[in-house]
Amino acid sequence: MLAVLTSATVYGLNAIPVIVEVDLAHGLPGMTIVGLPDKAVEEAKERVRSALTNSGFPMPARRITINLAPADVKKEGAGFDLPIALGILIAQGIIPKDSFKDSIVIGELALTGEVRHIPGVLPIALAAHTHSITHLFVPACDSIEALLVKKIVVFPVTDIRGIVAHANNEEQITPASLPKSALQEPAYEHDFAYVRGQEHAKRALEIAAAGGHNIIFSGPPGSGKTLLARCLPSILPPMGDEERLQVSTIYSAAGLLQGGLMSERPFRSPHHTTSSVALVGGGSIPKPGEVTLAHHGVLFMDELPEFPRSALEALRQPLEDGVVTIARAQGTLRFPARFTLVAAQNPCPCGYATDTTRPCICTPHQILQYKKKTSGPLLDRIDLHVEVPRVPSETLAGENVAPPSSEARKRVIAARKKQEKRYKKSSLTNAALGARHIKTYIHLSDDVQLLLKQAVDHHGLSARAYHRVIKVSRTIADLEGSQEITSTHLGEALQYRPVKDMY
Ligand SMILES: Nc1ncnc2c1ncn2[C@@H]1O[C@H](COP(=O)(O)OP(=O)(O)O)[C@@H](O)[C@H]1O
Ligand SMILES: [Mg+2]
Ligand SMILES: [Zn+2]
Repeated sequence: MLAVLTSATVYGLNAIPVIVEVDLAHGLPGMTIVGLPDKAVEEAKERVRSALTNSGFPMPARRITINLAPADVKKEGAGFDLPIALGILIAQGIIPKDSFKDSIVIGELALTGEVRHIPGVLPIALAAHTHSITHLFVPACDSIEALLVKKIVVFPVTDIRGIVAHANNEEQITPASLPKSALQEPAYEHDFAYVRGQEHAKRALEIAAAGGHNIIFSGPPGSGKTLLARCLPSILPPMGDEERLQVSTIYSAAGLLQGGLMSERPFRSPHHTTSSVALVGGGSIPKPGEVTLAHHGVLFMDELPEFPRSALEALRQPLEDGVVTIARAQGTLRFPARFTLVAAQNPCPCGYATDTTRPCICTPHQILQYKKKTSGPLLDRIDLHVEVPRVPSETLAGENVAPPSSEARKRVIAARKKQEKRYKKSSLTNAALGARHIKTYIHLSDDVQLLLKQAVDHHGLSARAYHRVIKVSRTIADLEGSQEITSTHLGEALQYRPVKDMY
């Protein structure tokens, strides 16, 4: 007797439907799984056996063969447990043959028969939609993810007995519905209100948020660089529906969603010991890396010079193109990776070169070596270079409360609206404009052009730096609600160039 169900596996950020065939034949009792299963799939045998017997269903005294098709797709994880168990029950005639037609069934089984969390329910729901599959049986704890995809009926499954009762029409499972709280705006942990002083750095962060510009903070230890960086999400505009769907899909595929959706913009802060693969993605079954997990959000690289050169090199493509390409025998995968980079560094190895409270103990050679670590192409892609001096203790101890992030955020949202209108594409920001776009969209008056030419001659700006200054000026003008870029806007933009440009 043969049973056939549809399940799915996640590859990259997409899911692929997988047909699960269960065959019972005469012969020595035992179970074989064929069709490129990984170790977790292999172990399904033991979990399925225990889960079924502990739920009160007998294992047939037959030879069980399970085939997962297509055979050329590597199958991963424990999600096939549930369809395999149900296949065994169908093959024995315990539940009707067509119980799960037009459905994808997926879930890991605990030995008790309970159904457990699996990664990737959202991409699986998207795949179901593309393949005109209308019903989804998923672990109850993951069911909210699937509800972002419209027109699919989602059945939250808690255990084997429940889904068997549903199939036998004894007790129907109620389809899941989206709770209001799932799409609520988050409360941010870090807020400008708690950062004393540092007006200059907050202003730079506001520009970064408004135009999508990358930013780097330099200053002595304890000056508040990490604190400032962590405030950035609180001044970014809320995610739109499409952004939320994209970001939630990435987190679902990576197995990082636990019973909810992504409502906050991502904030990722990989440690400097993070491997290049973990940073940009990869692996034999490709997984998104930190840059993709930061898509539509913030990638924070604290202590930037501590990152190995290979990691910094690997950042170049995503910074330039907003995507990561991963080559595989089966073809090239593209992961989205459009994020705002926030970096922090000390001015020298000991940290106190620019500080007034303590002497620097580094030799000039050490300082040079330290600066060399991050020089060049990476720093060139950072629009805003900001010095963060230590805040005097009187200011830190003072009673003054700073304006909250919500105020800066209002201005950021307004500036983003201006860009949306100008570029007629919701997610394009000033920072992402190519040289060609700059010519089309950004007009500079004769006065401003002359000033810019002087700056180029005087400071020796590279072509890339030249374009970056124009884009930052555009954002500063957008924040002010000004159609024209004035010399004041340009003047401020020039302040954010790194010191080496100037001398
Ligand atoms: N301007 C500030 N306002 C309020 N707290 C601050 C400020 N600057 C630093 N701090 C506090 O001092 C500590 C060190 O700050 P941190 O951001 O870790 O510094 P850095 O990253 O520059 O070494 C943190 O507890 C932080 O909250
Ligand atoms: Mg720090
Ligand atoms: Zn030093």
